[in-house]
Amino acid sequence: MSLSGKVAIVTGSGRGLGLAYARDLARQGAAVVINDVDAEVAGEAVRTIEADGGRAVAVVAPVGSTEAAKQLVEAAVAEFGGLDILVTNAGILRDKSLLKMTDEDFDLVINVQVRKRTSSGSTAASMSPPTASTFAAGRV
Ligand SMILES: NC(=O)c1ccc[n+]([C@@H]2O[C@H](COP(=O)([O-])OP(=O)(O)OC[C@H]3O[C@@H](n4cnc5c(N)ncnc54)[C@H](O)[C@@H]3O)[C@@H](O)[C@H]2O)c1
Repeated sequence: MSLSGKVAIVTGSGRGLGLAYARDLARQGAAVVINDVDAEVAGEAVRTIEADGGRAVAVVAPVGSTEAAKQLVEAAVAEFGGLDILVTNAGILRDKSLLKMTDEDFDLVINVQVRKRTSSGSTAASMSPPTASTFAAGRV
């Protein structure tokens, strides 16, 4: 399937599964907005995709808030003219027993793992309704 002309956002795509999704989308022709909290890996991901012949831009922001979601959608629209694919991949773990889990740990995990989907999805739908046709949610 060709994704030529399509625009994708992949959250948490500086490394790991997100980078693999982003590279594959770019290989199939999509322009990709790379997102990560780590500026170094986000920049490296863009360079890797460009070296493969693809198009990408980095947005360094912690997903979870509506503000971060807006930054991502605005970059997709400004750099590539729209948004077609949203992969809410970014995620973190605080793998602890309940007795060791702090409120801060719990809130951080919920914010990234749950709110990333609601904030990104609703922002994408409200800011880019004509082209936001494909939504692929990552696993919790
Ligand atoms: N690897 C697995 O076996 C596995 C299994 C089940 C689910 N998952 C889920 O898949 C997703 C990716 O897993 P992975 O193994 O590639 O993780 P990873 O830790 O290798 O990569 C995640 C990336 O997301 C970035 N990130 C973290 N919080 C962020 C935030 N708030 N905003 C933007 N970027 C952020 C990190 O800096 C990192 O580059 C996660 O949501 C994870 O829970 C992974």
